[in-house]
Amino acid sequence: MSRLIPPYGGELKDLYAAPPEFPEGDPPQNLPCVILSARHLCDVELLLNGGFSPLDGFMTEADYNQVVDSMRLADGTLWPMPIVLDVSADFAASLDSGWIELRDAEGVLVAHMEVASCWRPDKAREAEAVYGSNDVAHPAVDYLYNRTDEYYLGGRLFGVNEPLHYDFRSSRFTPAQLRGEFERRGWSRVVAFQTRNPMHRAHLELTFRAAQIAEANLLIHPVVGLTKPGDVDHYTRVRCYEHALRRFPEQTTMLSLLPLAMRMAGPREAVWHAIIRRNYGCSHFIVGRDHASPGKDSSGEDFYGPYDAQDLVKEHQAELGIEMVPFQAMVYVEERAGYKPVDEVDEGETVRLISGTELRRRLREGLDIPAWFTYPEIAEELRQTYPSRHKQGFTVFFTGLSGAGKSTLANALLVKLMEAGGRPVTLLDGDVVRTHLSSELGFSKEHRDLNVRRIGFVASEITKNGGVAICAPIAPYASTRRQTRQMIEAVGGFVEVYVSTPLDICESRDRKGLYAKARAGLIKGFTGIDDPYEAPLDPDISLDTSDLQPEMAIQRVLLKLEALGFLA
Ligand code: PPS
Repeated sequence: MSRLIPPYGGELKDLYAAPPEFPEGDPPQNLPCVILSARHLCDVELLLNGGFSPLDGFMTEADYNQVVDSMRLADGTLWPMPIVLDVSADFAASLDSGWIELRDAEGVLVAHMEVASCWRPDKAREAEAVYGSNDVAHPAVDYLYNRTDEYYLGGRLFGVNEPLHYDFRSSRFTPAQLRGEFERRGWSRVVAFQTRNPMHRAHLELTFRAAQIAEANLLIHPVVGLTKPGDVDHYTRVRCYEHALRRFPEQTTMLSLLPLAMRMAGPREAVWHAIIRRNYGCSHFIVGRDHASPGKDSSGEDFYGPYDAQDLVKEHQAELGIEMVPFQAMVYVEERAGYKPVDEVDEGETVRLISGTELRRRLREGLDIPAWFTYPEIAEELRQTYPSRHKQGFTVFFTGLSGAGKSTLANALLVKLMEAGGRPVTLLDGDVVRTHLSSELGFSKEHRDLNVRRIGFVASEITKNGGVAICAPIAPYASTRRQTRQMIEAVGGFVEVYVSTPLDICESRDRKGLYAKARAGLIKGFTGIDDPYEAPLDPDISLDTSDLQPEMAIQRVLLKLEALGFLA
């Protein structure tokens, strides 16, 4: 007889166990197939292994409606989050059989689903009821409106192949495996710590105290499925958790990775997290300040109050069965040279804090990260992932009319950066790209956009890997340039240089004779003649080469790169 807390609903689901009962015996060939998105795959993994017990598949319309309206399944069981499979209207219309296949992006069959329900949800109602907002600044509302298909399918799942993970395999446990591990270690009281951030000293202090209060062993249970856009990637985080684990007294604490797709739904999410942790065998669950917070809305207000999540879990404590260990934020108090919950700070004590934004600034600028804030080995992990600017890659993106001087400047910059050394430099010139990367493309808007997106993709890969990409296409459309900037800024630096040499000067140069041909009507759709060029409104640098020597122009680019911290 296990001494662990029973699963939510009494039974830990194992949807690999019972084979599906197809009418013909064997699974029919050519079943309709859904290719699972990253979020679907996380949901399916936790449905199949019992992390979402008592669910035995995606929700039907009846369950969904009740969950949205009153946080309960149709049978009255408390459940806060819709778990549904979204599909396109075409796919929904094409369904004629009750069975479908669910496959991962590589085509591996993960599960069969017996579709029992298909409906078109009211997304505005779902957003309002579940997330408390229709504002797309909320990541889950954005996902709902912009990345979720129009129809939902519900029905039982039958697992075929467990979703595959190649990373950190020894730290991945299903609910049944983790329960087994707790039993083996003789643990019966276990407090779970949910996190999507690297663990710093404040988190260690908090979890250590929580374990003392609950008189329980500690499970560090970080989410490695999908978290908030912009979070530290899970590879870096798990290396940080492994370091953190060594700081706890031996045999008291364990690390297990949770393949959950978070919704950042604050209070409802906290209730959901509690249920999941109970299924994993935990008797206690830490809920801190701003649990699963989506941040601020479009008008700069918090979506939820800092302790709303604790309040909602408390309200449902009895039904949830797992006990909440509520926590205030932990802060460093200088006079004590240690941490305290913020509500225990005495008057006159000096509190020190480093916010996430401040930490990122310090990493970017290569500044000190004090030992009171985090352990040196964790700071070092973060420095490896977020090197200071002078070690990061960057892209210099020249844009302007044909003949404006983009290639001349790009070539001069290439030579200057090669002379300086330190990073590999690649030139993606307009003409060169059209020979090697985009030889089949013409000059329609569609083809120009595709060409610029390809350049942006190659530049982002170079930048991500610490190199310098110099691009020099015409890139006439503002929105495509904006997308390129976004893609590259996510992995390093981006400097847009508008080569603003006026049309009459470019035309008078006409080094390739193309303007003459365009004027004569021999080339159609020539930029600046009978095709648009949307001048950048806010470039990082503007250079008119009418009477500016390349050496001087390039100095301006180099000074800008220096000012941004990219050149040491
Ligand atoms: S785009 O719009 O960014 O895809 O253009 P890009 O690939 O940079 O263009 C490369 C060179 O193609 C020559 N060319 C034309 N340019 C504009 N419009 C038309 N219709 C056209 N046809 C050929 C032009 O010389 C571009 O070279 P640069 O280096 O800009 O002088």
